[in-house]
Amino acid sequence: AAIEKGGYDHFMIKEIYEQPQAITDSLRGRLDPIELTLRLSGLEKIKDKLLQARRIIIVACGTSWHAGLLAEYWIEELARVNVEVEYASEFRYRNPIITPEDVIIAISQSGETADTLVALEKAKAQGATIFGIVNVVGSSIARITDAGIYTHAGHEIGVASTKAFITQLTVLLSFALKLAEYRNTISPELQKQLFKEMNDLPSKVESILTESKDSIKQIAEKYKNAGSFLYLGRGYNFPIALEGALKLKEISYIHAEGYPAAEMKHGPIALVDENLPVVFIATKDRVHEKIISNMQEIKARRGKLIAVVSQNDQLALGLADDSITIPETHELISPILAVIPLQLLSYYVGTGRGIDVDKPRNLAKSVTVE
Ligand code: G6P
Repeated sequence: AAIEKGGYDHFMIKEIYEQPQAITDSLRGRLDPIELTLRLSGLEKIKDKLLQARRIIIVACGTSWHAGLLAEYWIEELARVNVEVEYASEFRYRNPIITPEDVIIAISQSGETADTLVALEKAKAQGATIFGIVNVVGSSIARITDAGIYTHAGHEIGVASTKAFITQLTVLLSFALKLAEYRNTISPELQKQLFKEMNDLPSKVESILTESKDSIKQIAEKYKNAGSFLYLGRGYNFPIALEGALKLKEISYIHAEGYPAAEMKHGPIALVDENLPVVFIATKDRVHEKIISNMQEIKARRGKLIAVVSQNDQLALGLADDSITIPETHELISPILAVIPLQLLSYYVGTGRGIDVDKPRNLAKSVTVE
């Protein structure tokens, strides 16, 4: 096993470090880095259905559901199509209204999650078009879809999903951009800019992994005995707040809650005192001023501020007790970078507490029973 881990202590950290390569693999043969064009043959197969679709319904569980939530923001912004994001387990047991004009996107690392699979079978029986974003080639979910895109993250062993998530995001953003191209809802300038930024992702992820590792380790050491964490983000970073909190729960057994930063006033703010670490995902974007004022609100109540911020953001850096900077990029891309420090933070908190992060108690890599 030591050899399989390639010199790393755990599969999880190995997989975190494999992310630049995983992103490259998920874009290979799709994004042309010189021409700045994107080809998604899976999407071409359902192009007509997509252009007629009344809406897109995304169905997933766990971390894959978080990828779906971010995709809702991307697809609605770029392609102006209505998107709904559903927990597969809820979707399958209610009586959802599905018609042949609906396109369902299933997101699954394993391709074997029972709830997701059954939800798709039901939607298919009602005539919907099923599109898969799956990692494991030839898996059950991959086989029942009408078309799809493999994420090509490679074999993921750690129970807490990292590189599979990053490639889901890369593929979903590609999906949104291609759909926007089909529907003529994106300018060629913005399209090229985003393609270029996507192409730069592996090197930017790499720089976070090398430059922030030590400071994140120190932050983890400082807060590893906290009883609870709050993760807050807005807009594109809201799904990242949810994923950051899930990651911490999974492998450190510390209670953590992800919330939309503004919504905290309706509940979680009651928990804030000098013992509560609050992780803000506060990169420079259209809601930056808003999140800065949310940070001030937590600070006024003596909460401990840990912030993921864009480089040179003096305002956010000045407010935070501890901060992690990430490279500048377009606001649509920044959530893909922002999750990297949160993965490392959970890893170091979990290992600092002596937990076997590759096999946390009670969790399974693939949930094939409902
Ligand atoms: C389990 C795993 C998670 C994963 C979820 C959905 O809970 O531990 O890491 O996100 O299932 O799995 P899927 O394979 O469908 O993405």
